[in-house]
Amino acid sequence: MVDTVEIIRSRRSIRRFKSDKIGRDVIEKLLDLATQAPSAKNDQPWKFVVATGRAKTSLVNVLMEGMERAEAQGLSTGSMRVSIRAMSEAPVVILVFNRFGRENLPQEYQYAKCLVDTQSIGAAIQTFLLAAWDAGLGTLWICDVLYARDQVQAFVSTKEELVATIALGVPSESPGKRPREDLNELTTWMD
Ligand SMILES: Cc1cc2nc3c(=O)[nH]c(=O)nc-3n(C[C@H](O)[C@H](O)[C@H](O)COP(=O)(O)O)c2cc1C
Repeated sequence: MVDTVEIIRSRRSIRRFKSDKIGRDVIEKLLDLATQAPSAKNDQPWKFVVATGRAKTSLVNVLMEGMERAEAQGLSTGSMRVSIRAMSEAPVVILVFNRFGRENLPQEYQYAKCLVDTQSIGAAIQTFLLAAWDAGLGTLWICDVLYARDQVQAFVSTKEELVATIALGVPSESPGKRPREDLNELTTWMD
């Protein structure tokens, strides 16, 4: 029997990958598992673009250009360089979009709807990460790509909002456990 607790506890963000290819059947299975996640009103706001091979190389170039443009404007792009390296090493990058536009919604509703849909998409991403780990694959959940959001959306010819990307591949590192805040500091019990 699969030990869910062990999968949750042992999962790590992976930033170094082997070049081994991942079969389409494996990716499809992981996406199918990801979409078993709950979503508000069962709206399933997620949409995926799977980039491999030359398309992935082009995506990485788009991200590099986006990062350099942002930096030229004086913006700090944080850990984007490391994230781009992870995506260039990983054989698969999955772009995750919110498929619902906000334009046709009243202003006050936009914020809540977007927040709710983003939570649903986060649930799907986390489910993907755990399913991949269970299959012996490493992942990195990447939001640094949002520094180049417009360029990425143009690259895939969509107006749907980019939420994150996931780098997927065979890990070539085994990082130790990253620290977590003391739960007692973060939890209030009310009786
Ligand atoms: C919403 C979200 C965005 C993240 N974005 C990035 C990113 O852009 N680049 C990166 O290297 N890691 C990113 N991470 C991974 C976190 O840095 C990582 O989960 C955290 O440091 C804890 O490490 P662990 O996942 O190994 O426990 C992101 C994680 C989440 C949940």
